[in-house]
Amino acid sequence: MRIGLFDSGIGGLNVLSCLLKKYPHHEYIFFGDTINLPYGNKKKEELFSLASDAIDFLISKKVDMIIIACGTISSTCFHDLKKKYSLPLYDIISPTVNYLIKSNYHDIGVIGTTRTIESNIFMINKKNILMKSTPSFVPIIENNQIEEKREEIEEELKCFKNCQILVLGCTHYPMLKKIITDNMHLEVLDMGECLVNSLELNNNTDSLIELYFSKIDENLQKNIQNIILFPYHLYQK
Ligand code: DGL
Repeated sequence: MRIGLFDSGIGGLNVLSCLLKKYPHHEYIFFGDTINLPYGNKKKEELFSLASDAIDFLISKKVDMIIIACGTISSTCFHDLKKKYSLPLYDIISPTVNYLIKSNYHDIGVIGTTRTIESNIFMINKKNILMKSTPSFVPIIENNQIEEKREEIEEELKCFKNCQILVLGCTHYPMLKKIITDNMHLEVLDMGECLVNSLELNNNTDSLIELYFSKIDENLQKNIQNIILFPYHLYQK
C-alpha cells in the first residue's frame, strides 16, 4: 500500500510517526507545504486550492490513499475534497470526534488553529466542550522555540486546568505533549493515535518513506530527525 499524507509543515510528521509505530512496512509519501505555512488562519478558498495542489502532487506519486494530516484542511475542506477526488481520502478529525463521543470524558478541552476552532467540528452533544484557538503555537513549534516559550504556552493553556482531557486539535501540537502532561498534569488526546486506531491496513513487505517539502532549511531538517526515527529520503518539491 502506498499512503500519501500532507500538511502545512512538520505537524503531519507526527501523524506519520504514529502510523509508523503500528505499520512500519508500508510506502509513505509525505508532502509538507512549508512555503505556505501556517495554514491555520487562511481563507477556505485558499485552503481548498492548496489542498488540491498537495493531493494532485501525491496522486502523481501513485499513492493508493491519502490521509489529510492537517486539522485545518480536515475541518474546512474535507467534504469538498471528497467530492472532487475519487481515491480514498481520510480526514484527521473524525476518528478523534468518534472516540470522544463513545468515551466517558465529559469536560473536554480542545485547542486548534483559528479555522479549526471556528468550524465547530469538535462540538459534541451532551459534552462540556471548552475550545480555544492557539495560533501562536505553530510558529513556536516550527521555529523550535518550545523550551524558550514554555511560560507563554502554559499561560495560554491555563483555562483548561479543570478539563479531564485536552484534545490536540492541530497536528503540530503533539510536540507540546511533554509540557502539557509533565508541567500542567493534563491528559492529552493525539489525533494521529485516534486515526491509527481507527484504520485497518493489511501488512505489507515494502518499506519506504519519502518526504517532500516546498521549502527546506536547517531547522526543518533538525525537526524531521527528531520526529521520524526510521530511514527516510528528503526532497525539495
Ligand atoms: N498542522 C495543521 C493543523 O493541524 C496546520 C497548522 C498551520 O499551518 O497553521 O491544523
